[in-house]
Amino acid sequence: MAKRENFKSRAGFVLACIGAAVGLGNIWMFPYRLGQNGGAAFLIPYFIFVLLLGSTGLITEFAFGRKFKAGSMAGIRNVFDEKKKSGGLLVGLIPVVGLAGVFMFYNIVVGWILKYFSMSVSGELFSVDVNSFFDGFAGNSQSIIWNFIAIALTLIIVYMGVTKGIELINKIIMPLLFIIFILLAIRSLTLSGAIEGVKYLLNPKWEVLLKPNTWIMALGQAFFTVSLNGCGMVVYGSYMKKDFDIPRSALSTAILDTLAALLASFVIMPAVFAFKLNPMAGPPLLFITMPTIFREMPGGRIISIIFFLSILFAAISSSINMLEGPVEALMSQTRLNRKKASIIIASIGFILSIPLNLSMGAFDSFTNFITIIVSPTAALIVFIVFYYVYDSRKALEEINVGASRKLGVTFLNFAKYVFVFITVLVIILGIIYGGIG
Ligand code: ALA
Repeated sequence: MAKRENFKSRAGFVLACIGAAVGLGNIWMFPYRLGQNGGAAFLIPYFIFVLLLGSTGLITEFAFGRKFKAGSMAGIRNVFDEKKKSGGLLVGLIPVVGLAGVFMFYNIVVGWILKYFSMSVSGELFSVDVNSFFDGFAGNSQSIIWNFIAIALTLIIVYMGVTKGIELINKIIMPLLFIIFILLAIRSLTLSGAIEGVKYLLNPKWEVLLKPNTWIMALGQAFFTVSLNGCGMVVYGSYMKKDFDIPRSALSTAILDTLAALLASFVIMPAVFAFKLNPMAGPPLLFITMPTIFREMPGGRIISIIFFLSILFAAISSSINMLEGPVEALMSQTRLNRKKASIIIASIGFILSIPLNLSMGAFDSFTNFITIIVSPTAALIVFIVFYYVYDSRKALEEINVGASRKLGVTFLNFAKYVFVFITVLVIILGIIYGGIG
């Protein structure tokens, strides 16, 4: 079997994790969720959940991967075999299948972004009727080719491997993404009337905190945004060297992910208010509202090119994590090498995505099923296997290897009881309220 690859540097590892975390969740979902859930007040539960639960989840997933030098499939099987329990294969399959599901619906949206990027470059975005265009494009056969291109781009990077593909690309595009976002935020904030958007983002409507929905949305968003799905971050953790600091890496990922979401909001909302559009437009905010703005804004064409390009950076760096999870699992369970495994998974993912491209109803149901039920269940599985089935003391030891500030029993109790309880709650409330991811 080929030697397991590693991230070369801690910075490369953290950038890859930030790349995995920062994505459509931050740029597409976060601003509209914020818009629909009372602006600034939404930030309070969101910050609490991302920083506390998000970093706890990341610490656990990284440590699980590094401990067993394996993704969740092989790692869970190891633990079950060691404890002489059966069913390891089946349980280990859940996080992998869940992440493959995320890969599928996610790349449909990446395909839309690619289409919008290409329309910005060609200028077509400035001649079509943006409202009817989006409705006719999403959920229609035209999007299949763009879905294919999105998957192919991801495949190229994963095919190249951990160091030469994943680490390298993230080292280039993640710093660029932040620079572009800062510049775009400055542009947006200097539009006349932008101040109303700033007020919207900073003046909380406290009453929304009384609605359970605000908390549930913030919770689901927090899980999705740092990619807690029991697989992707486990795999990256498994390529981590022993001297990398797990708690610090997790915290850096959670903080920069939050920063990216805030920056995205400061790019989008001030512009939405400057052009007197609706901040509560929901999912079409990116595909209808923003193009409407670019058409009217001085320099809008170049800005729209840069805007959609930066979203592509964010989305592809997340998509490679979603492909890497199942690819690593396939390699670990068969004799297939990376090249073959990545082509097989990407091809299956593409073929199975075709029906989702053709119907927005199917797309929505599938996305909800994966994000509401499968991903949080998979995150829960890794926690239970690591802290309950394996050994919570040894898990804590692994977390602390290479850590500059060691975590103690308070962390362990938080992870074992609070995190697990809240994750169960996420799943139950998600089912009741129908859609939190
Ligand atoms: N965490 C990734 C995102 O937010 C999946 O898009």
